[in-house]
Amino acid sequence: MNTKIAYISIILFFSGFVSFAQKINIKKAFEHAEKQTSLMLQEIEQVKKSAKTGLVSPRTLENGELKLVASKDWTSGFFPGELWYLYEYNQQTKWLDEAKKFTANIEKEKTNGTTHDMGFKVYCSVGNGYRLTHDAHYRDVLIQSAKTLSTRFNPKTGVIRSWDHNRDKWVNPVIIDNMMNLELLFEATKLTGDSSFYRIAVSHANTTMKNHFRADYSSYHVVDYDPQTGAVLKRGTHQGYSDESAWARGQAWALYGYTMCYRYTKDPAYLSQAEHVANFILNHPNMPADLVPYYDFNAPGIPDEPRDASAAAVIASGLYELSAYSKQGKFFSGKADKMLYSLTTKYTAPAGSAKGFILLHSTGSKPGNSEIDVPLSYADYYYLEALLRKKNLQK
Ligand code: GLY
Repeated sequence: MNTKIAYISIILFFSGFVSFAQKINIKKAFEHAEKQTSLMLQEIEQVKKSAKTGLVSPRTLENGELKLVASKDWTSGFFPGELWYLYEYNQQTKWLDEAKKFTANIEKEKTNGTTHDMGFKVYCSVGNGYRLTHDAHYRDVLIQSAKTLSTRFNPKTGVIRSWDHNRDKWVNPVIIDNMMNLELLFEATKLTGDSSFYRIAVSHANTTMKNHFRADYSSYHVVDYDPQTGAVLKRGTHQGYSDESAWARGQAWALYGYTMCYRYTKDPAYLSQAEHVANFILNHPNMPADLVPYYDFNAPGIPDEPRDASAAAVIASGLYELSAYSKQGKFFSGKADKMLYSLTTKYTAPAGSAKGFILLHSTGSKPGNSEIDVPLSYADYYYLEALLRKKNLQK
């Protein structure tokens, strides 16, 4: 008996040394994602038959039903992007064909100047399509989209205006999420040689770095600017718990955004900003042991608050990229491994369930009482991106 206990103890002792990196089975995770996405394609067909026309991409489950959105919705580009990631992983024509089909639905957004979400919509879909196919048509769509996004830049504020809605609340609102749209602008300069896109992106990133962050490197969600003087009128939140709290996905956008800005500019200020934000997130006392954050780091009911798997997916993907640039690389990639391991083992939908979404337990807007503890297409998109980044880092 004693020998048996000793034997088990030795096994348990050594299994502790198997890192999360070794435990993540990327092949299995992609097999699950492919099965779920095949189901999603069938579910989309069903909804399209019965719903009004013009709905193109899945966003979430609403009362258990699949919710599709029109191309103008900020989330429309994520599902096409997932299809590109599946194609990138397995190179199967089936996924290429689906990716092309769903990406075609988004293209008309290239002239929609009523929102800042151009990067989310067009870069995640068409941008990935161009990266993987070099189709000249996609190139043209990206350039037109960057031109349209640039019309929302105001040289007096130095930033791209985010929203046009809720004019009674804000004059010229900018949300931290907007950092994500800069990737499209940086790419447009690479494609055209026209540096105006690059300069707008840098101005937006610098102004946001100055005005959006607190001393501890947590980020406000919304900053409102005077469009004439560029003065900050107020700082607050829309989807977080309170104006002074740290909304989890906002911190994720900041981390990913400044890491991406460093990729294009090699400006050490952006690297340092990304590292500070990452350390704020990873060392936060309210970060749960599995590293999948509550929807807000300051939510008052923690630990009985909803998690946000989408924030974890964005953070994990951002950390993998940051790990390649930073002196803290090992620390960051280790934490990303742990997040990805948690998402893969505890947050994925059982095969054949959730209408084909991959991850469960995300939160869209708790204060808006909307999309709480549900699957979200952007959680799935950044989860697949994180898996691919992990795979590439292993190479
Ligand atoms: N960009 C909107 C959100 O993160 O919910």
